[in-house]
Amino acid sequence: MFRFSSILKVLLTCFFLPSDMVASEDDKFTFNGFQGSKLSLDGTAVITPAGLLRLTNTTKLLSGHAFYPSPFRFKRSQTSRVLSFSSTFVFGIVSEEIKISGQGVLFVISPSRDLRGAQVSQYMGLFNSSNNGNSTNHILAVELDTIQNPDFEDINANHVGIDINSLISNESTSAGYFVGGTGEFRNLSLVSGDPMQVWVEYDGRSMHLNVTLAPIRSPKPGRPLLSSAIDLSDVFEELMYVGFSSSSDPFVASHYVLGWSFSMNGDAPALDLRSLPLLPRRSGEQARKRLEIWVSFTATLLVLLAIGAAVVMVRRRAKFAELLEEWELEYGPSRLPYRELYEATKGFSDKELLGAGGFGAVYKGVLPSSKLEVAVKRLSHGSRQGIREFVAEVASIGRLRHRNLVQLQGYCRLRKGELLLVYDFMPNGSLDKLLFDQTRCRVGWGQRLRIIRGVASALQYLHEEWEQVVIHRDVKAGNVLLDCELNARLGDFGLARLYDHGTDSQTTHVVGTMGYLAPELMKRRRATKATDVFAFGVFLLEVACGRRPVEPHLTDERTVLVEWVVENWKRGTILAVADPRLRELGFAAEEVDLVLKLGLLCCDPLPAVRPSMRRVMQFLDGDAPLPEFESTYLNSAALALLRNEALDVAMDDFCSMSYLSVAESSLSGGI
Ligand SMILES: *[C@@H]1O[C@H](CO)[C@@H](O)[C@H](O)[C@H]1NC(C)=O
Ligand SMILES: *[C@@H]1O[C@H](CO)[C@@H](O)[C@H](O)[C@H]1NC(C)=O
Ligand SMILES: *[C@@H]1O[C@H](CO)[C@@H](O)[C@H](O)[C@H]1NC(C)=O
Ligand SMILES: *[C@@H]1O[C@H](CO)[C@@H](O)[C@H](O)[C@H]1NC(C)=O
Ligand SMILES: *[C@@H]1O[C@H](CO)[C@@H](O)[C@H](O)[C@H]1NC(C)=O
Ligand SMILES: *[C@@H]1O[C@H](CO)[C@@H](O)[C@H](O)[C@H]1NC(C)=O
Repeated sequence: MFRFSSILKVLLTCFFLPSDMVASEDDKFTFNGFQGSKLSLDGTAVITPAGLLRLTNTTKLLSGHAFYPSPFRFKRSQTSRVLSFSSTFVFGIVSEEIKISGQGVLFVISPSRDLRGAQVSQYMGLFNSSNNGNSTNHILAVELDTIQNPDFEDINANHVGIDINSLISNESTSAGYFVGGTGEFRNLSLVSGDPMQVWVEYDGRSMHLNVTLAPIRSPKPGRPLLSSAIDLSDVFEELMYVGFSSSSDPFVASHYVLGWSFSMNGDAPALDLRSLPLLPRRSGEQARKRLEIWVSFTATLLVLLAIGAAVVMVRRRAKFAELLEEWELEYGPSRLPYRELYEATKGFSDKELLGAGGFGAVYKGVLPSSKLEVAVKRLSHGSRQGIREFVAEVASIGRLRHRNLVQLQGYCRLRKGELLLVYDFMPNGSLDKLLFDQTRCRVGWGQRLRIIRGVASALQYLHEEWEQVVIHRDVKAGNVLLDCELNARLGDFGLARLYDHGTDSQTTHVVGTMGYLAPELMKRRRATKATDVFAFGVFLLEVACGRRPVEPHLTDERTVLVEWVVENWKRGTILAVADPRLRELGFAAEEVDLVLKLGLLCCDPLPAVRPSMRRVMQFLDGDAPLPEFESTYLNSAALALLRNEALDVAMDDFCSMSYLSVAESSLSGGI
């Protein structure tokens, strides 16, 4: 009997499957470190000399995969249920910056080892925008995700999730574990740089998938972090590969696996934690350590000599002088070398100048190392005060991720308070150039509405969906850029903060752009979500009417856009203000009507009346009807107040320099 069954097994193996495709006989494996192992690796994945499996390196925008070379039989036949399996591994994420990381690590069970069609960055080297969510993927993944991506409905920037065929998790929860005995929940930070152990266990009979996480020295918690009833029989194919996927990002981190075991139909073999290779320390930390040692071992004289030499060098190469202070080490890779930016922009050549607006001049460039097309913004800060907060903010802005925001790639700080910010290059320029060019504008209504929705969605993200509230402070058509697919991308967010930090008594300017400033901002000088909504309201009118908010050369009621729209609304002729060019480019009366009225609601003089961006999004998507409302502009007392306090001031002082940014005027005046 025994002989017969083993002969049968051999026959099955020989005739139905190429023999080198079947996993080892006992259907399990253990790696305590990966030295000498024959994993199937691609992309950035390597086995380091110390025996660590490193999935990503610090090269930007690449992914790495590591699979056990042969597949496992998860189902006895195409239609049968999925057998029990269990896996455990120890991983560590060593980011180059404190608490800032790349995308995270995925444990993957996939019908194929070849994931070359997958995209990097937020798709984590597993899916791409066309197959994400498609049931033909047949992929199960457990994500250890360190970025909150609104496209994938992520709950926060430190979570564990179960993903089926999609990066939108079926179930997810904040990273942590339940302590044995008391059952108390403790948070864990995935990017802490400390190794952690994960268990992924599936019971084929009860069809339950458990995921458990714990610090490396803790015993396995009795209660799993995630426990989910999932029938995998439609998801899995008979033969599947097990492995890992990961990708890095502008803010890079190395993702490591230290040890790994797997078993079909039984508990994964325990790892010998003491024999696992050690994780490297954060390179920033190493650099700091080295710095400390250097300082303590070097005599004062030597330091002085070094400084002297440095001064000479700085003098000689003043062109490439940039500032690097010790506190900046933690922002590691988001800091780009000046030499590289100088080369990228051909020495900030006038030929590469894209424009000078908002806060400084913008140059086009191609980064020599990555060949990435970028826009380099050169701004002057003037005072050194507050620069530290600002750099922290730049690093934090770099983590913002939204399809309608211009991605910040990094920064460089120079002497004399000069700062360079590096953004993705937007080939189609800014919306105002396109919209206000009387002869060239070919932007039809459908596209304008798409742009409006994009900007609204970006603002909603900044206001409500990110881990902290970000006020944009300078929403306007000039800050809406268009990418190669003409998607709207909001730029320059948070920059106005630079001028808030370290303002001295004489520069009591308000930052923002005339015509977009909410009346209360003129008085109280404090930007809020409501002042952003006001500017967004003006932006809506701008896009629907195809003109700037203030046109000083028009001397009649049309001068100030808001007033002109209100007047027409009062007369019942609101559609008369719509951009006349829309008649030939395509026009949808109902939608134009909605956008104009929503614009008026958003730029109501009373902040409390303005809707939140979430509400705005609902109106735009038709998920909620725009309420009947009476504009405060039609209340003559309020209007008089507004005229006196805000617009008249604005008109008197700034009409002759229409559309001029206040920040700019105070810059050129003050420095
Ligand atoms: C990262 O991996 C890529 C692809 O294997 C390789 O070209 C690059 O040199 C590696 N970079 C580092 C810093 O190891
Ligand atoms: C997406 O990935 C699949 C599977 O890897 C591949 O076949 C397809 O070509 C990819 N699509 C794109 C647009 O890259
Ligand atoms: C899923 O992928 C299959 C094959 O790649 C394709 O035919 C199908 O249209 C996709 N379904 C969706 C909803 O994208
Ligand atoms: C969860 O998994 C199933 C497949 O079993 C899938 O059809 C469903 O759409 C998934 N997503 C969510 C968010 O539940
Ligand atoms: C754990 O993390 C969650 C989510 O970030 C947070 O809401 C909670 O307050 C944290 N709990 C503790 C004890 O730190
Ligand atoms: C999953 O967790 C539940 C709840 O703790 C437990 O009853 C069950 O046995 C676990 N299943 C597996 C496969 O570990």
